[in-house]
Amino acid sequence: MAIIITGASGNFGRATIEGLLERMPARELILVTRDPSKLQDLASQGATVRRGDYDDYDSLVSAFAGGDKMLLISASKVGSRIPQHRNAINAAKAAGVGHVVYTSYVGKDGDNPSLAVGDHRGTEAMLAESGLDWTILRNSQYTDAVIEAMSPLALQRGRWIASAVDGKMAQVWREDCVASAVAVLSTPGHRNIIYNITGPELLSFREIAALISEVAGRPIEYVPVDDEGMYAFFDSLGIPREAVPDQTVGDVPWSSDDMVSVERAVREGYMAVISDDVEKLTGRAPKSIRAFALERQDDLRSA
Ligand SMILES: NC(=O)c1ccc[n+]([C@@H]2O[C@H](COP(=O)([O-])OP(=O)(O)OC[C@H]3O[C@@H](n4cnc5c(N)ncnc54)[C@H](OP(=O)(O)O)[C@@H]3O)[C@@H](O)[C@H]2O)c1
Repeated sequence: MAIIITGASGNFGRATIEGLLERMPARELILVTRDPSKLQDLASQGATVRRGDYDDYDSLVSAFAGGDKMLLISASKVGSRIPQHRNAINAAKAAGVGHVVYTSYVGKDGDNPSLAVGDHRGTEAMLAESGLDWTILRNSQYTDAVIEAMSPLALQRGRWIASAVDGKMAQVWREDCVASAVAVLSTPGHRNIIYNITGPELLSFREIAALISEVAGRPIEYVPVDDEGMYAFFDSLGIPREAVPDQTVGDVPWSSDDMVSVERAVREGYMAVISDDVEKLTGRAPKSIRAFALERQDDLRSA
């Protein structure tokens, strides 16, 4: 069976490929990137590496040829992903791919205000209507982002600013998302199922700030703000409001429209989703924020 991985050169793609290579030979992988030179190392191990661009439908049809199952790793420009994902889904159908596994985002449906959730639900609807088999991996917010980006920022300032106020999420370690994707890609079944890939506990940023303060041994004041206060904070960091092609500003790779809308969704209870799907898929319990913070204690202390 040939497995296609889009976004193969990124963090999620590379980690998934590493997991798959423990279970199958490289020749069963078709890896898609806009720049095949980035994946030379995997080509030399026997993987097929092809050029494909979510903005170029024809390139995707050629790139996906011969694949049976595909991991569609969501594109990164929040607010403009639906046309890109439409190209990928239509190309998968045209190329004869039977089953698409998609990295989505947790969150309750209805009037969820998160821009990112809107993109993902739009893509999920396209998959449901495509006639293809699909699996949706609704990944929660990465614990990695909390520990590696949000916590150092709060420790440096002594303040954790959040318009999520006391809303909760069950953040998940990216490696647990990757392990879940590897399980779905490398075992039979999983057709037309939505998995909620979450961490083991629902926490507010107030609770997370207290935990990080304890682990780092430094005080953090929790400062709840409204949406305008949250925009003002991100503006002060130089983060663009709308998604732009290069979104990485000060190591924060998102736009504030995205982040403020997610914090609002958390505040209003739309992101309070928890499940045991990671353990069901991988056979191991997901890592907690405390465990991750303790592993990174030295970094947090010196942030
Ligand atoms: N749940 C969360 O908290 C959270 C946090 C961060 C990210 N995410 C999601 O996870 C996804 C993957 O994250 P990551 O860390 O692996 O991102 P990353 O390291 O920035 O990699 C992005 C990948 O997308 C590919 N890509 C971008 N634009 C493309 C296009 N037009 N056509 C084809 N490929 C394109 C890139 O491939 P080339 O440049 O090689 O073409 C690259 O492989 C993100 O896009 C986002 O949806 C979720």
